[in-house]
Amino acid sequence: MAEEKPTAPGAGTEPPKLATAALKPQPPKAAAKPEPPKAPENEKGLQRRRDFVWYGCAALLLAGLATFIKIFFPRTLFEPKTRFTIGYPSDFGFGVDTKFQQAQRVWVCKGPQGIYVILAICTHLGCTPDWLATENLFKCPCHGSTYDSEGRNFAGPAPRPMARCHVELNAEGKIVVDKLKTYEAARFGDEGAYLPV
Ligand code: FES
Repeated sequence: MAEEKPTAPGAGTEPPKLATAALKPQPPKAAAKPEPPKAPENEKGLQRRRDFVWYGCAALLLAGLATFIKIFFPRTLFEPKTRFTIGYPSDFGFGVDTKFQQAQRVWVCKGPQGIYVILAICTHLGCTPDWLATENLFKCPCHGSTYDSEGRNFAGPAPRPMARCHVELNAEGKIVVDKLKTYEAARFGDEGAYLPV
């Protein structure tokens, strides 16, 4: 009987397979960038509310500041002067001059009598009549009262002629008009109701 030779331990058996990939040294993985921490939703809402409060406070402060500044600039009504100069008598030709109607509500008239200034207020209810040069009359746009070129009413509801303002010459020889001193028709011939030329 043949004797069995002892075999070396491990002889005749295949070496255990090892995963080659596992043996290879792996390059270190790049560390993933840490993501910035996300603000929680309620934090955003809080921030929005904070912004809103800040903007509100800023608006209130600005409004207060504007009110404070306005104290130094009080509202003032710039009324036209009731006494004013209109120029030299030679500045006016015969007829009706309307250049002071807008600013002073008067017409400067020159006629055979001299220079007189009509207060441009309708004697019915106080509207400003229009001067119609082609018709040589004043006509009130409110209710149709009509006046001749001297301001005497002849049609419509106006009860009397328009008043005239006081006129005089100052030291320079310029015409001064005083709207607070007026003359009704019965006093159109008074001194001060016209300037002789
Ligand atoms: Fe001039 Fe009435 S206000 S006609």
